Amino acid sequence: MIEQFKKDVVEGLGKSPKSIPSKYFYDAIGDALFIKIMNMPEYYPTRAELEIFSEKSDEIIRSLSLKKDVFFELIELGAGDGTKTKQLLQKLLQQGYDFSYLPIDISSTALRDLEIKLENEFPTLDVRKKHGDYFNVLETLRTNNHPKVILFLGSNIGNLTDENSSKFIYQIGANLKTHDKLILGVDLIKSEDLVRPAYDDPQGITKDFNLNLLKRINKELGGQFDLSTFDHVPEYYMHEGVARSYLVSNRDQEIRIESLDRSFSFEKGERIQTEISRKYDDRIMKNILKETDFRIVDKLTDKNGYFADYILSRS
Ligand code: AVJ
Repeated sequence: MIEQFKKDVVEGLGKSPKSIPSKYFYDAIGDALFIKIMNMPEYYPTRAELEIFSEKSDEIIRSLSLKKDVFFELIELGAGDGTKTKQLLQKLLQQGYDFSYLPIDISSTALRDLEIKLENEFPTLDVRKKHGDYFNVLETLRTNNHPKVILFLGSNIGNLTDENSSKFIYQIGANLKTHDKLILGVDLIKSEDLVRPAYDDPQGITKDFNLNLLKRINKELGGQFDLSTFDHVPEYYMHEGVARSYLVSNRDQEIRIESLDRSFSFEKGERIQTEISRKYDDRIMKNILKETDFRIVDKLTDKNGYFADYILSRS
């Protein structure tokens, strides 16, 4: 883990333009900041998707074409705190479906908290948590022939380029069988006045989230970043449909990273790209799915049309 982090930092800060993979946001501090982000009034995706799961779970279940007498596995990639999924779990249990719930997450604390919460709320639900990077854990799922429904919510796919999303979704399909389903939650393209504040809140929570990358390099790799010399700069243009976040050096400086035994120079105004958050529409989604074995069987949106959950079926 730490070796990969070192490698990614050397590579990302050594090239031009500089970048650091966004997966490194999520240490304990980053997890906590992301929970704060999800609770911000400006961060609409969480509430929009929760509305879909609260009000349209019956339609989601219908579009999955499950049989009540056939056991299936409900597998969630990046389960987090499970707030949205609980709406679906409750309906499935009420309607008498026979299934296990397998949450996968890289945060073992998040998984344990979720397990305890679910045991209390749904004592009859069979929960089998899996700790790990979902790319690796996916392969371990092929060990049985039960029908599967995969949940990949929260527009987490949006951190990938379209090309990598397509490869990732293809990989999910490679671990599934015909008629298995994927529920893919994505943020939809919308105007700048709605998207920008979600990534640039007045409280500065998103700024702290972004700067936590440098804090983490300081802590884990002996970096010597002075956080006050970098500004949080988000960017979004509706015609591109991609929100990007940068850390921008506000002076010329050399930063040493002890455990890498080297320094990196930054010019005043030079940017490190730290995240892309893709926004979608049907055209983009169809293009991503073209090279995969999935087809769209349903699409559910919130009342405002901010967010969509696509129900995909493995052909
Ligand atoms: C967890 C990747 C969906 O891109 O909106 C929130 C992460 N970054 N605010 C997103 C995030 C800044 C979030 N995803």
